[in-house]
Amino acid sequence: MSAELKHEGSLGVRMKRKEDPRFLQGKGRYVDDISLPNMLYMALVRSPYPHAEITSIDIGEAMKVPGVKAVITGKDLDAAGLGWLPTFHGLDKQMVLAVGKVLFQYQEVAAVFGENRGAAADGAEAVQVEYKPLPVVADPFMAKADKVILRPDRERKTNHIYHWEVGDRDSTARALASSPKRIKQRIWFQRCHPAPLEPCGCVAQFDTMGRLQFFVTSQAPHVYRTALAIVTGIPEDKIHVISPDIGGGFGNKVPVYPGYVCAIVGALKLARPVKWIETRTENLTSTGFARDYHMDVEIGATEEGRVTALRVATTADHGAFDAAADPTKYPAGMFGVVTGSYDFPVAHAEVDAYFTNKAPGGIAYRCSFRVTEASFAIERAMDILADELHMSGADLRRKNFIRKEQFPYPSPLGFTYDSGDYHKTLDTALEKIGYNDLLKEQAAKRARGELMGIGISTFTEVVGAGPSKHFDILGIKMFDSAEIRIHPTGAGIVRTGTKSQGQGHETTWAQIVAEELGLDPQNIMVEEGDTDTAPYGLGTYASRSTPVAGAAIAMAARRVREKARKVAAHLLEVGESDVEWKEYKFQVRGVPAKSVSMKEVAFAAYTNMAQNEPGLEATYYYDPPNMTFPNGTYVAVVDIDRETGESKVRKFLAVDDCGTIINPLIVEGQIHGGLTEGFAMAFMQEIQYDSEGNHLNTNFTDYLVPTSLETPHWETAKTVTPSPHHPIGAKGVGESPNVGSPAAFVNAVMDALSPLGVRHLDMPLTRDKVWRAIRDAEAGKKQS
Ligand code: CDP
Repeated sequence: MSAELKHEGSLGVRMKRKEDPRFLQGKGRYVDDISLPNMLYMALVRSPYPHAEITSIDIGEAMKVPGVKAVITGKDLDAAGLGWLPTFHGLDKQMVLAVGKVLFQYQEVAAVFGENRGAAADGAEAVQVEYKPLPVVADPFMAKADKVILRPDRERKTNHIYHWEVGDRDSTARALASSPKRIKQRIWFQRCHPAPLEPCGCVAQFDTMGRLQFFVTSQAPHVYRTALAIVTGIPEDKIHVISPDIGGGFGNKVPVYPGYVCAIVGALKLARPVKWIETRTENLTSTGFARDYHMDVEIGATEEGRVTALRVATTADHGAFDAAADPTKYPAGMFGVVTGSYDFPVAHAEVDAYFTNKAPGGIAYRCSFRVTEASFAIERAMDILADELHMSGADLRRKNFIRKEQFPYPSPLGFTYDSGDYHKTLDTALEKIGYNDLLKEQAAKRARGELMGIGISTFTEVVGAGPSKHFDILGIKMFDSAEIRIHPTGAGIVRTGTKSQGQGHETTWAQIVAEELGLDPQNIMVEEGDTDTAPYGLGTYASRSTPVAGAAIAMAARRVREKARKVAAHLLEVGESDVEWKEYKFQVRGVPAKSVSMKEVAFAAYTNMAQNEPGLEATYYYDPPNMTFPNGTYVAVVDIDRETGESKVRKFLAVDDCGTIINPLIVEGQIHGGLTEGFAMAFMQEIQYDSEGNHLNTNFTDYLVPTSLETPHWETAKTVTPSPHHPIGAKGVGESPNVGSPAAFVNAVMDALSPLGVRHLDMPLTRDKVWRAIRDAEAGKKQS
């Protein structure tokens, strides 16, 4: 198909985002923009203790605060059967408001409803709660000892939540024991928080017929509807969930939080709408954190650098409740992708998770349920192995890559990788960044005692859950769906169960329809986030939208096209089999001059359809046959100031392969954003607790978010290896930069420090930590 025949706005076109004029003019409609007549505000009373018995709650003073209408406590909710929420992957449950004891600092203890925000906040301050402090379990290694059992509500009286493993334990142990070269490293991916610009919030109201209308910052509105029906007992047809514009989600807006249930209870009890918008501190301290995996990684290899085995044993800190949204069968998410881009003959991975006195979570922060942790572990470990073998990281990777003729590739940990050309992606990156020149520059600098590092990460991800036979949330199978209606004038509407939080679905979904139907994407409206109108879908997280909903849209459009073909045959006065779809129009086979456009057919579908069924619409439920496996090579170049320990990322190139690209402009934007988050985790961010369970960084003065001043300049490039099983060959991309970049940054810093004998430092690589490592190395102290 020649380039000039491409319809404007179809696949691969750098179309500007349709949603941006709305956002740039401040016309977005977020949950906090919703104001309903007679609306009350809710504020939460939170625990100052990480672990304590609640001896009494006195609401007397709070009820005297002008404007306060009601206070509810855990006991009230418990009496109504609403004391606990199921967590999304079904292995645990979570207190809505604390009953008996609190399990983490800032846990929700009571909800106060007031005529305005101030009244609710003042009321919350006036609630008097007495606590009796209990011993604190501050980390998962303490939790292992089971000296203090945090969750007596559970059947098993232990802090151990689950053991999960995959692969061949015995063969891996044997292969490691007989490998001439071996490395072992504990790698911690620190506790982080997605910290979206817009915190979480909701507005709940019951209409005159008793139907709940629930505006909420949700990445998965349909799952919320079903979960709320299960938790509250309200029939699902009486629940209408609406997610309006969302200012960033990154996995933080997948779980159902206690505040949502309290707002609904308040709206029911007081027969008035209730708004709850959490503060930044509430967002950082009580909503889903990410990572906190302590990973013991071992690799065996031959003298020549051929890998023989991988073993990873992980200790995970889940906080007070296991509130991850992982699929039921996968408590450690997609951690099984830890063999990465390499052809390991055998491997074994296991994860043991523990409760501690910290906020609950373990959410998929811009990643496919633990892919970021897995990717970081293998990409760091490959560099450590390269160091051991005195090889370059690039050569070691090249030697061990899965070769392109091996796809579809069955990994030793159970995935079937769909496609990839890792050698090409690495070669593209090294050539584009001028790797050989950088090596020369580095050698010259090292000779002068300067610290310059080049870090490579060649990651592979697994995104696009389903297939439904393997993946679910709360038992609901993971598929997705799309409904397309084409109007008489050739404009149309697409509805899906996904929910953009900044990813640009209003543009890319329209582009898929434009490609499939030859219509103008500017006139294809996209509607998401309304459970009354969209067909059931599992939502947007883990880069699943394009692999699953994107496929559903293409398939629904093809259904529309098949229906349109009948009308086209009638207009062209030939049999249906004589009509072919070519060059974005229906043509009579062999007579290209005789043709009709989709726009003409759309009009006829309502005005001149002959004996065909009127109208032009279709719905498709898509259950993917496999996940997609995007990959990339990222290269970071870092200079470190030997005196101050400051790392400067001088150059960064991301070469991504996400299969067929729908919109290169949007993909670049996704990569820029994700790299900035990766940079933040590598150099700045860690949710910190002291040994008493006190949360130390509760706002943006302590938990740092990079501004344009700190953020490096990003360069991007691509290779394209389409997914063989996706209708348009697309793989997901949104999370790739967050998954792939931390290892590139850390590998670069470690490469810079390698002349000093420093082999590994855990993130975040703050100036202070790097400065200490340099000083210790110079003082001759041995590094870990
Ligand atoms: O699920 P989520 O939307 O977060 O992630 P995604 O499916 O990777 O898509 C992020 C954005 O990039 C969407 O607007 C996609 O349509 C777009 N994209 C694209 O243009 N081409 C691809 N191959 C993958 C994603």
